[in-house]
Amino acid sequence: MKNIVILISGSGSNMAAIVRRAQQEDWPRRLDAQVAAVISNKADARGLQLAREQGIVTAVVDHKAFPSREAFDAALQHEIDCHDPALVVLAGFMRILTAGFVQHYADRLINIHPSLLPAFAGLHTHQRALEAGCKFAGATVHQVTAELDHGPILAQAVVPVLPGDTPGTLATRVLTQEHRIYPQAVADFLRHAH
Ligand code: GRF
Repeated sequence: MKNIVILISGSGSNMAAIVRRAQQEDWPRRLDAQVAAVISNKADARGLQLAREQGIVTAVVDHKAFPSREAFDAALQHEIDCHDPALVVLAGFMRILTAGFVQHYADRLINIHPSLLPAFAGLHTHQRALEAGCKFAGATVHQVTAELDHGPILAQAVVPVLPGDTPGTLATRVLTQEHRIYPQAVADFLRHAH
């Protein structure tokens, strides 16, 4: 069985979309894959509760409990590796990862970013897209490399920017698409993983 480990920091709606799709499409039988664990750096991440309700193993590795990024990443890596993952999915995981961590999961670590990369890496993507006068925005699923919000693009979705949009309304429109393309990208990855 190919194990998927999902890392979250907040509401976990992308995680939930992946879990839902795994159930709907019966990934254990059809892809020989399962969501094995959901791990958060925040104990109060809303997504944790949701994962528990689905019977998924959860864990918290609190970054504030560690003196350095390296120490946090080592603890996180240990927790993840307990599940022998074929794929590690960053889903609203709001920590910058060390090069060593990224290297350890080379070719099995993916992220979703709420912009049309390579435009608007980093934070406040929707506000920046509006300020730039973009007519379109979107989301990108990409393989994670040592450079933040870079790495080979696996999937993208485009949405229009509409008159009167605020960062909030644009974020909601983009998030709807994230929930569509992220589960699809995970399934595609698993189909090609061995
Ligand atoms: C998503 O927009 C994701 O792209 C961004 O943070 C948000 C997380 O939402 N990096 P959720 O936790 O999956 O609901």
